[in-house]
Amino acid sequence: MARFSTPRPEELKNEMDFELRESGLQADAYQKLLDRLRDLRVDTQSPYFMNQLFSGVRSEVLEIEKLISESRTTMATFEASGPFTLIEMETVRALARQIGWENAYDGVVVPGGSAANFMAIHMARQLADEGFKTRGNRPHWKIFSTREAHYSLEKAVLALGLGLDSLVTVETDARGRMRPESLRRAISDVKAEGHEPLMVNTTLGTTVLGAFDPIDEIIEASQGTPVHVDGAWGGPAIFSPRMREMVKGLEKAASFTFDAHKLFGADLTCSVILTRHEGLLLEANDVHGGEYLFHESSGDEDEQGLGRLYDRGRLSWQCGRRPEIVSLWGLWKKHGTTGLGDIVEEKLKIRDEVVSWIGSQPGLKLLHEPEYLNICVQVQKPVRASGGEATGKVDRYEDDPDWSRHVRQVLKRENKALVNFSTREDGLTFLRLILAHHQLKTDHVTKILQWALDV
Ligand SMILES: Cc1ncc(COP(=O)(O)O)c(C=O)c1O
Repeated sequence: MARFSTPRPEELKNEMDFELRESGLQADAYQKLLDRLRDLRVDTQSPYFMNQLFSGVRSEVLEIEKLISESRTTMATFEASGPFTLIEMETVRALARQIGWENAYDGVVVPGGSAANFMAIHMARQLADEGFKTRGNRPHWKIFSTREAHYSLEKAVLALGLGLDSLVTVETDARGRMRPESLRRAISDVKAEGHEPLMVNTTLGTTVLGAFDPIDEIIEASQGTPVHVDGAWGGPAIFSPRMREMVKGLEKAASFTFDAHKLFGADLTCSVILTRHEGLLLEANDVHGGEYLFHESSGDEDEQGLGRLYDRGRLSWQCGRRPEIVSLWGLWKKHGTTGLGDIVEEKLKIRDEVVSWIGSQPGLKLLHEPEYLNICVQVQKPVRASGGEATGKVDRYEDDPDWSRHVRQVLKRENKALVNFSTREDGLTFLRLILAHHQLKTDHVTKILQWALDV
């Protein structure tokens, strides 16, 4: 049986020996401990795990993760990583080409979408002010985003020393998409107050609603402010013929976050931050202190010129860094560009089937037609006539704003599924079904919803 209900920490401590001690374990005791850990972990491998935006483990990815771990190298220098560096560079090139950035582009792997969004702001600073590396932030920089954007944006402005006040909230429409006309107004207002627009943050596939901001219109409204596109969740849409219209304008964006560990199930984490400005990552991140590693001024003929291009540690914030990009490259090699598109298309088909099934079920209400692979649905409370408790017969359903949250807890407690919930501004809770597992079938999703109706 799947495990979705984790005991409380104090109970979990009774299930396994966590304490670190002076003396080590015998081999068999050590093995038993690892087996216990395997038993106690949350079953994120199951198609019924939909709590986050990733689910399941692909066997081909596991194989590559083993290769990565065995190789035990770092992406900082070409001399230590060799073919892995070329894999990263080729994957960045192929992603840029897929977006429509044929000639000028740059990109590097970062530890997650949050880090990618962080890097996008950092690069925007370099674009806005070449002297910022020595002088630091300008006090009047503003970043425009919506309430639906991922919280990593707030974390990033904290860490980058810009402060939460640097964030300007732009209005959204009923589906959670940024309103271009509101952005236009917000930028004008900010300028009139003597502030400087630094970046506009947009999202392809917002975390809760799966909304796609209209990039093309936003770029039009941005009045020259660099537009970053957070595609951590919805980025794979660049491979889908069906979604082509929804990513329109991306080819004109300044930067792009792409997470391969979410929908594509690559090594967790495997994220790329891309920029349309060739050389910007190096300009923004290169420092003098790396001479001991990069040897750029060593005078060694073999290394001259090579490091600038191939020592990826210079354009990254990290020094030691696993080549997790091999997992995306391997998936891409194995399935081809068309196969990656098929992964998205297949999920869209499941989504359509589930949406149509929901339409036929009293007791389930879609929040709106989904744009992507998030199905947001309210579960209504069943009212059972006298005697109905025994037979399960439902008389009618009624709105109870807290019922979906309650249903979610029951599914989790009974180890049936782990599905996240969210709360609308008016207090209504709803389930957020995420279609990400590589073996997901329509039946998995309708089964979860049937269990939800049976609560
Ligand atoms: C839209 C969006 N951006 C960024 C992130 C952060 O990605 P990561 O978990 O890889 O840091 C998420 C995570 O859910 C997300 O939904």
